[in-house]
Amino acid sequence: MKILPGPASKELGERIAKLLKLPLLDLNSKYFSDGETYLQIVGDVLNEEIAIVQTTAPPQEKRLMEILLLASTLKEMGASKVIAIVPYLCYARSDRRRKDGEVVSHEITMNLFYNSGIDTLITINAHNSEIFLETAPNMEKFDLNIIPFLAKEIKKYKDKEWLIIGPDSGSIKDIELTSRILNLPYITLEKYRDPDTHKISIKDAEIDCKDKDVLLLDDIISSGGTAIDAIKLILKNKPSSLIFFCIHNLASEEVINEIKGLGVNEIISSNTVERDDIETIDIANSITDLLEEKYL
Ligand code: R5P
Repeated sequence: MKILPGPASKELGERIAKLLKLPLLDLNSKYFSDGETYLQIVGDVLNEEIAIVQTTAPPQEKRLMEILLLASTLKEMGASKVIAIVPYLCYARSDRRRKDGEVVSHEITMNLFYNSGIDTLITINAHNSEIFLETAPNMEKFDLNIIPFLAKEIKKYKDKEWLIIGPDSGSIKDIELTSRILNLPYITLEKYRDPDTHKISIKDAEIDCKDKDVLLLDDIISSGGTAIDAIKLILKNKPSSLIFFCIHNLASEEVINEIKGLGVNEIISSNTVERDDIETIDIANSITDLLEEKYL
């Protein structure tokens, strides 16, 4: 197997190759003045299994297109198998039709992956694992739940008797699992999303977190609405410290700065999206474990 890191996950791709002692393929990439991507795969791929590593965080369409272009070209060059490692999978949140005419972007995106020649798609904490696994049934898929790995890493990073808080009822599975692994208590907040404006509000409530160390945990931060509202509410209840942790960090730098300004002690995310403005936890090992178990 050879590893081809895409422009959005260069460090992660190189790290996976290093950990598995696998050869790296070079990629020449540049952007034309109109924004389109130029790509050239450098190296021999004939009859080889190739794993592309590329996240699809913003700009999603560009990152997605780059994967499709690479997969299709690899197959055209004679690669025997194309594995796409997409640590954050975009367009997964619209996964069912709620209103007439609504686009189910998850299914369309999955079909695009399959039709571009991808044999296997590996992602991390998909938005809805069940739907992910049953979509595009002819493509092999793996959804890695990295909560157990992250819980241990967070404990190694800082060992405190946290009260774990989930921002909404949808976070319950992740929160319960983290709480079980760390043997710590948890609560979840109540969130409401206006179906038309998509505005998030977290229900005002008294939280018993005075003088406690709090770990606020979410799977994803995007607009920051959920995190900001939850953080404000927690801070109102006077914890002694507050760490915000999320798996997929899609937030803009402005949003991250706004959160820092609220008085959070730390913001941490995994490197499913590479960033240099906050602390990240490397998840390469979870991917290499799967590749080793299945293919090497
Ligand atoms: C929601 O259901 C997720 O777990 C996240 O809380 C949500 O997607 C975060 O999005 P945003 O940052 O836009 O509020």
